[in-house]
Amino acid sequence: AQAPITTIATLSAHEGQTVTLRGWLYNLRASGKLLFPIFRDGSGTIQGIVPKAAVPEVVFETLKNLTLESSVIVTGKVRADARAPSGFELDVENIEVLQRVPDETPFPITLKEHGVDFLMEHRHLWIRTPRQSAILRVRATIMRAAAEYFDLNGFTRTDPPILTPAACEGTSELFEMDYFDEKAYLTQSGQLYIESTALALGKVYSFGPTFRAEKSKTRRHLTEFWMIEPEVAFIGLTELMELAENFISHIVQTVLKHHRADLKVIGRDVAKLETIQAPFPKISYDEAHQMLEEAFEKGLIESRHTYGDDFGSPDETYISNQYDRPVMVHRYPAAVKAFYMQPDEQDPTKALCVDVLAPEGYGEIIGGSQRVDSYDLLRQRILDHNLPLEAFEWYLDLRRYGSVPHSGFGMGIERAVAWICGLDHVRETIPFARTLNRIYP
Ligand code: 4AD
Ligand code: MG
Repeated sequence: AQAPITTIATLSAHEGQTVTLRGWLYNLRASGKLLFPIFRDGSGTIQGIVPKAAVPEVVFETLKNLTLESSVIVTGKVRADARAPSGFELDVENIEVLQRVPDETPFPITLKEHGVDFLMEHRHLWIRTPRQSAILRVRATIMRAAAEYFDLNGFTRTDPPILTPAACEGTSELFEMDYFDEKAYLTQSGQLYIESTALALGKVYSFGPTFRAEKSKTRRHLTEFWMIEPEVAFIGLTELMELAENFISHIVQTVLKHHRADLKVIGRDVAKLETIQAPFPKISYDEAHQMLEEAFEKGLIESRHTYGDDFGSPDETYISNQYDRPVMVHRYPAAVKAFYMQPDEQDPTKALCVDVLAPEGYGEIIGGSQRVDSYDLLRQRILDHNLPLEAFEWYLDLRRYGSVPHSGFGMGIERAVAWICGLDHVRETIPFARTLNRIYP
């Protein structure tokens, strides 16, 4: 009888049985008359045991000479082994090679250390390695959990266009293109469009790729990244912050529930994720500035924060390091924030906005605000920011026809993945990162 085809992740249902796995040779160790191949199949890795005496000669010889990343169909008996990372080992009985990687062109990614440029140049192959695969699985769950949070809470997903006639987040970072005889831009955020769908449907969100012509090389910036953005009619900043903390808690707890093994492969300290439960600490910009002043006086930070300026990344790192969960910094000076933010009634120089800073120095993962709801003020803001009024007439309509207070935020998926997985750089958070100096592969 044909052995049932299964996957490494589901071997526990097959203990003691002979099964068929389809995958690739990840590694091979030989010790005299014993071979220890490690196979991977996309769901995990498993070590095989092949004593020369236990298998037909051809099976032993085929495996012994097999090159890394050759594609194979392996048959073997599943044996529980407490020492094995997956909990099982495979007593190999037979192997069929689909494609043997030629000796002249060995798989370029070996188990030794490679430089980042080399790895990024071979990203299409690098993603096969266990750690990168684990990150991509966690990313997929973060995206699913993020969408699920809104789906389960009465939001309607409304997808905004990617080709747009105007800027949302500042004109200096726009990707411009020819759109027949007009100029168009790749979207920086779906926000303006989902403000309109929020006034149609109440609670909405968008989820898709967004683009910024970021000319700086940092650990946090991509030129193409995925953003999930909720927008809600009739809520203000306080309720928006509650939404953000519940949303983040849901995502982190979902990852913990499903990806303990992946987080271990990645090397993430999960104790730091277990504390991520709402409510989160909330401090105003003024309080954050005060915190930085005191830190500067005590010599804990090198450069002094200038009141009125945005926070730099060392500032964000210092602030976020004071807490064991994300910190919500609200009411920044309106002058450093986007044109569409509602001023605070108590102090109109401040915007009713919030940045959520992730712990462990990961910095901003969410930016959001209450939106200007007055027609006159919004029109003035568009002019003050030197934005083309014609391109925003439709957006001003939202303040002509039944304007209401409304609020929303955006979370960059890659920033969230970097934090939750504990990665040094966002380039590992997405299958193919787009950065200032890389568009290949
Ligand atoms: O703070 P940002 O610019 O806010 C907006 O775009 C709003 N229109 C969102 C809204 O209110 N609906 O960007 C939101 C988030 C950031 O907090 C960050 O997580 C991510 O998007 N982000 C980037 N991620 C990777 N690379 C970049 N270049 C990013 N720029 C922003
Ligand atoms: Mg921001």
